[in-house]
Amino acid sequence: MAFTQAPLPFAKDALEPYGMKAETFDYHYGKHHAAYVTNLNKLVEGTEMENIALEDVIKQSYGDSSKAGIFNNAAQVWNHTFFWNSLKAGGGGTPTGDLAAKIDAAFGSFDKFKEEFSNAAATQFGSGWAWLVDDGGTLKVTKTPNAENPLVHGQTPLLTLDVWEHAYYLDFQNARPAFIKNFLDNLVNWDFVAQNLAA
Ligand code: FE2
Repeated sequence: MAFTQAPLPFAKDALEPYGMKAETFDYHYGKHHAAYVTNLNKLVEGTEMENIALEDVIKQSYGDSSKAGIFNNAAQVWNHTFFWNSLKAGGGGTPTGDLAAKIDAAFGSFDKFKEEFSNAAATQFGSGWAWLVDDGGTLKVTKTPNAENPLVHGQTPLLTLDVWEHAYYLDFQNARPAFIKNFLDNLVNWDFVAQNLAA
């Protein structure tokens, strides 16, 4: 059974009023994400990893230099699907309920969370990801290089932002800080974050 690319959870032009062009999704979803799926399927074909859950492929291949290609492609498949679900047309703003309370408890205030998340996303040198995670009941902001993700550190991912240059170049050119600010102001799908926290 081959791994498949989950459909985008919105139309490719749905985020155009919120700073992300349909063309971005033609490339980022249609080329980059799709290529990770194709490459993963080629790499696991005929191996014991062909028929296990994607999350297990990620955990089992992490740190094994002989499986670096499998890890990189599997994690990038998972990370991108998680990223699409982290986005919503007209999202952003402030979360509510239990999630808001947990953010206040962990960071002091929502503004402090935004500051910490923005800082992680801006300072991830080169390619990688910024995350909000649940780490044993406490919310934390983290950043990971390349394909690495919180699953391999025993953390529960709640929200992510792709800070690879391919994620923002068509919309914001080299201005990663503008991409980060737009994500927090207009795109974060707090309903998805709350679902992940409750799960
Ligand atoms: Fe990406």
